[in-house]
Amino acid sequence: MPFKLSEEFKTKAAHICAKYPRKDAALLPLLQELQGAAGYVAEEAMDALAQYLELPYARVKGVVTFYTMFNRAPTGKYHLQVCRNISCHMAGAPGLLAHLRAKLDITEGETTGDGLFTLSAVECLGACGSAPVMQVNEDYFENLTAEKLDALLEDLKHGKHPLKR
Ligand code: FES
Repeated sequence: MPFKLSEEFKTKAAHICAKYPRKDAALLPLLQELQGAAGYVAEEAMDALAQYLELPYARVKGVVTFYTMFNRAPTGKYHLQVCRNISCHMAGAPGLLAHLRAKLDITEGETTGDGLFTLSAVECLGACGSAPVMQVNEDYFENLTAEKLDALLEDLKHGKHPLKR
């Protein structure tokens, strides 16, 4: 069945578009809305949004592929997003990524077989002062080390969220 934008989405979209001088300027917030609803932005959703905004599909796809914050496929329960930009790189992010790859037996863009973890390398998360940084779903974990990562993964595996006790 072809993807259709929901009536709820269209109502929100009209409200968001009204804040901008041109409808196409609402592309980013509308993509965030789509991702918020489904957890990712499917190809069909990009196509439907392009039609809604009267934009070429390539423009919408270009934005989704440019920004690492957009997922193009369903993610695991915990989306581990390791910052790979300069401050984090200098503070050891490549080692942390390698540690996660080895520990979870997945590479960037993949999800563990149990559906628990998806691994991504992302652009600057805006917390460079406490590099290296990883975002897990909506939360930031800063000044990370391999030991802190191990403890965090154990907590998450057991359904304990270290920031939400
Ligand atoms: Fe990693 Fe900015 S470089 S948060």
